[in-house]
Amino acid sequence: MDRVKATAAKHHLWVLEDCAQAQGAKYKDKTVGGLTEFGAFSFFPSKNLTVLGDGGCITTNNAQMAERLRMLRNHGRQGKYDHEFPGYNVRFNEINAAIGRVMLQHLDGFNDNRRRIADRYNERLKGLVQTPLERPWAHAVYHMYVVGCERRDDLQKFLKERNIETGIHYPKPNHLQPAVTGRFPFVPKLPRTEKAVKEILSLPIHGQMSLDAADQVCAAIAEFYGRKQE
Ligand SMILES: Cc1ncc(COP(=O)(O)O)c(C=O)c1O
Repeated sequence: MDRVKATAAKHHLWVLEDCAQAQGAKYKDKTVGGLTEFGAFSFFPSKNLTVLGDGGCITTNNAQMAERLRMLRNHGRQGKYDHEFPGYNVRFNEINAAIGRVMLQHLDGFNDNRRRIADRYNERLKGLVQTPLERPWAHAVYHMYVVGCERRDDLQKFLKERNIETGIHYPKPNHLQPAVTGRFPFVPKLPRTEKAVKEILSLPIHGQMSLDAADQVCAAIAEFYGRKQE
């Protein structure tokens, strides 16, 4: 982020942080969404902070932009009948907002639990799969716990047969999505990305998951690779 901010400052640009998967995460002790001018958060049901439905929010410490964003959200309206500019209908449902306020009180606890699960996975999966690296300046909130592994599809099937649901985030990289390829005259070659999408596997993790459940996942992975785990 220091490099992003420096580049933005040099070219007189604003930075908008995509914090969709990072509610509560920190960079050098500062919470994301507050590192730059804007932070965009998603409350999509799988996210660390959910509202029992879809939603999201933007954070900013720029009062003028905050006012403009509030208006954009509501058809460019100020007051009841004055539309200053064209906007959108992206008003947030009040019931979901009320649920989000309650969920916010649990966010730190849920994130702490995600970190506990990640620590357990790190400890027990060492040498079996490639575990994620947390840099010293980072405080991750493990929206996902993604490992790199050999024979990924077989491992996923093996886990599924044992009722362990996993995910692949994502099987098709952005630069190969028709929504993107259609917009450019050529498709770039990103061999590392294309290799990674065949090896990644997202293991179960959530705010209320138990260490016992994590141990079961680790034992099943160890079994798949022919290793025994106490
Ligand atoms: C990194 C990232 N950015 C943006 C989004 C989009 O969020 P939403 O679906 O709430 O618009 C997501 C959601 O999956 C995401 O994971």
